Amino acid sequence: MRTLKHFMALALALAMALPIGAKPKIRIIATGGTIAGVSVTSASTAYTAGQVGIQTLLDAVPQILNLADVDGEQLVNIGSQDMNDEVWIKLAKRINEILNDEGYDGVVVTHGTDTMEETAYFLNLTVKSEKPVILAGSMRPSNAISADGPANLYNAVAAASSPACRGMGVLCCMNNQLLDAKTVIKTHTIDCDTFEGGPSGIIGYIYNGEAHMLQTPNNKHTVNSVFDVSKISRLPKVGIVYGYANASPIPMQALVAAGFDGIVLAGVGDGNFYKDVFDVAVKAQESGVQIVRSSRCPTGPTCLNSEVEDSKYHFVASLDLNPQKARILLMLALTKTHDWQEIQQLFKEY
Ligand code: DGL
Repeated sequence: MRTLKHFMALALALAMALPIGAKPKIRIIATGGTIAGVSVTSASTAYTAGQVGIQTLLDAVPQILNLADVDGEQLVNIGSQDMNDEVWIKLAKRINEILNDEGYDGVVVTHGTDTMEETAYFLNLTVKSEKPVILAGSMRPSNAISADGPANLYNAVAAASSPACRGMGVLCCMNNQLLDAKTVIKTHTIDCDTFEGGPSGIIGYIYNGEAHMLQTPNNKHTVNSVFDVSKISRLPKVGIVYGYANASPIPMQALVAAGFDGIVLAGVGDGNFYKDVFDVAVKAQESGVQIVRSSRCPTGPTCLNSEVEDSKYHFVASLDLNPQKARILLMLALTKTHDWQEIQQLFKEY
């Protein structure tokens, strides 16, 4: 342990001795999550997310200072199951300030993994910069045996410092991999390699502090996005209803009664829903609630006018977006239009 401490002190001293300004300027925004979590004992699985602050995270990885001039701020310190519209809007506005008004070359957001894919997609549609924005988290708490957070944070700063990551939209950096905001999905409840990139796979990887890109996103994002939260303080209300055999219509009825602006259906198969739920959806659409059909299937598109005649009912098909991402695009789409065909076009583009 003494050797490690000496090594870290030496690394920090060397890093401080390097010429300042020769390195990219990176801002880290901490929001909590397991990367900031603390377990009861290093071997236990019981832990609480969002316990340690950003300086503790940075102190654990002094090698970061070899990559970039790094400083940080704590936006919130929550488990990402508690991520919400208010934090999303604040985070998007703060990132745009940092990149467009404060001279930073990139941003890293430390975040819980449970909803990281959602925050990444929301930022993909609302960040107004081509500079890298990289989300990083961990599956093991900060004091666990073989904690994965320090390496993920180091790799995220490397990606945020890399010109190769410019113009790629918002990316997630976990387990040495770079994942695109539109396709990234958490696939396993506890494994460190939980994140996957869907049918198109990962967009790149980090090796020895270098970002290597394998492909580029083919959807609109960041500077090419029409969505702007700079003057928004709240988002339209959109809920998700899960489909299954003999499904109850009560959840969808409850969302309609609560005045939701849109409802995404995590349907069965190609976005199909039980007849009682279908009847409620048709009436909801007629009353001005926008219905989006998505699927509970982990892969495959939800196709327009397939088993359901969307054009007849003015439903939108989510195409390549899973329910949780379809909800985000529908929320932002409803800040621009309530026309189902215009919304369907946005689902084709984003
Ligand atoms: N509470 C979960 C979250 O903050 C823990 C999962 C994690 O961060 O890995 O997303």
